[in-house]
Amino acid sequence: MDNLYGWEWFLKQFQTISKIDLTSYKRPQMERRINSFMKLVNIGDYNKFITLLRADDAIYHRFIEHLTINVSEFFRNPNHWEVLEKDVIPGLLKEKSPLRVWSAGCSTGEEAYSLAMLFREKFPNKVDRILASDLDNEVLEKAALGLYAVKGLQTLPVTYGNRYFIKEGENYRVTDEIKKMVIFQRQDLLIDTFPRDFDLILCRNVVIYFTEESKQKLYRKFAESLRPGGVLFIGSTEQIFQARELGFKSIATFFYQKI
Ligand SMILES: C[S@@+](CC[C@H](N)C(=O)[O-])C[C@H]1O[C@@H](n2cnc3c(N)ncnc32)[C@H](O)[C@@H]1O
Repeated sequence: MDNLYGWEWFLKQFQTISKIDLTSYKRPQMERRINSFMKLVNIGDYNKFITLLRADDAIYHRFIEHLTINVSEFFRNPNHWEVLEKDVIPGLLKEKSPLRVWSAGCSTGEEAYSLAMLFREKFPNKVDRILASDLDNEVLEKAALGLYAVKGLQTLPVTYGNRYFIKEGENYRVTDEIKKMVIFQRQDLLIDTFPRDFDLILCRNVVIYFTEESKQKLYRKFAESLRPGGVLFIGSTEQIFQARELGFKSIATFFYQKI
């Protein structure tokens, strides 16, 4: 679509509507997702698509959801959570308590609630209210609701399921005790300034579509946001190249400590 209403035009218009800057994401993946959504709603060009996004709130929200890919799981990659529980958190607690923890790109809340359950169960009263943030208001609303289908609970240890969820119709709701441990906030990791002095940041399965440049920028911002000795926990397909230059050292696969 290299006409007047081409890609660059679309990005500018979309940023005006949503405040989301898609130039920081990989173009081929974004184009594929945008084009597949346009097909779904039977729209053939960016001009008409922008008009539709402005006019139809429901379509706009569906599109944001489609674009941001917010699949999540409780205790995603359980063996990495084991390293977190057995090595990383005990190490952090030797230096400070309670810990300041942030789930960045939290989607529908599974990661933040996994953290809350883990602390409640294994390290009671050793964490401040957990910050959980995402770009997408829709997922944040779902996260705050804390209501999950049985299918979504499959990766949850049984004891946690029994202790921290209440059956509600066909679904299960996170108990108030766990909910109170988390605060959900909207935040764009690429644009907004970060709070400081964190002991532990989880940013997992968020940067997959970021350009290399925006990834580096983000990891630098995380390094500034952690206290020295604080730890960044990333996704199982991710790696930080030139970690030292960004102010990190690797302490285990998928865990980086601020120098
Ligand atoms: C695949 S989910 C990851 C959820 C969870 N961290 C996990 O690993 O299960 C990716 C999330 O990143 C969010 N995201 C994408 N770009 C973002 C940005 N610039 N700022 C904040 N969140 C972003 C999406 O909205 C989506 O909810």
